Amino acid sequence: MAKQKLIAGNWKMNGSLAANEALLQALRAGLPQQLSGCAVAVAVPAPYLAQVQSLAAGSPIQLAAQDVSQHDAGAYTGEASASMLREFGVRYVLVGHSERRQYHGESDVTVAAKAQKALAAGVTPVVCVGETLAEREAGLTMEVVRRQLAAVIHANGHCISEIVVAYEPVWAIGTGRTASPEQAQEVHAVLRLQLAAATQQADRIPLLYGGSMNATNAAQLLAQPDIDGGLVGGASLKAADFLQIIAAASV
Ligand code: 13P
Repeated sequence: MAKQKLIAGNWKMNGSLAANEALLQALRAGLPQQLSGCAVAVAVPAPYLAQVQSLAAGSPIQLAAQDVSQHDAGAYTGEASASMLREFGVRYVLVGHSERRQYHGESDVTVAAKAQKALAAGVTPVVCVGETLAEREAGLTMEVVRRQLAAVIHANGHCISEIVVAYEPVWAIGTGRTASPEQAQEVHAVLRLQLAAATQQADRIPLLYGGSMNATNAAQLLAQPDIDGGLVGGASLKAADFLQIIAAASV
């Protein structure tokens, strides 16, 4: 039997009370009560966690956050801890998104610490890795993603089988330029091998692709043997497009 796919929307810093309600209503109306072959999550801005938790209640849509603190509690203005996220029913949290690495200077070590805090609180970290265009052109793609993932494996030991990994080439994010299915598969296969060296459960770890995934290209990407789902930015804000991606993952 094919492994269940995971389609996660990343709303980034988009939304409003009214827009979120309309989007969730449209998603709920378009989804079956019980999904087959596919799990669905939406990563929403922190102020909307409570709203989306209640809008998604009783539906197959799971709640995700976009970031988590590497600390447990205390004087860390602006941050939210993994246990706080857990209180709102958060099932997944993105860690190490390239926008966090780029605009907030998050290092591989910080990302690994965040993954550790999420795991300890029972929230599944979605560890994002990916190379920039300059790195790809310099032939450094595999080296970069392996280094980013190695930090998380090193910090989390046997818990590593509980993570999700998202390969998001930075040059494909929000650019309309997606990695070809072959390019994505090539990187996913390398990540799978790296995980297999750390755990016997590597086949169970969902490896998502992200970067301009849309209703048109999703099916081909998801057909690759090591692509277990998608992390969807722009297209997750449009109910019809997101539903089509979910449908492509549910076959
Ligand atoms: P886009 O789908 O808008 O390219 O964003 C991808 C992404 O960064 C998801 O985390």
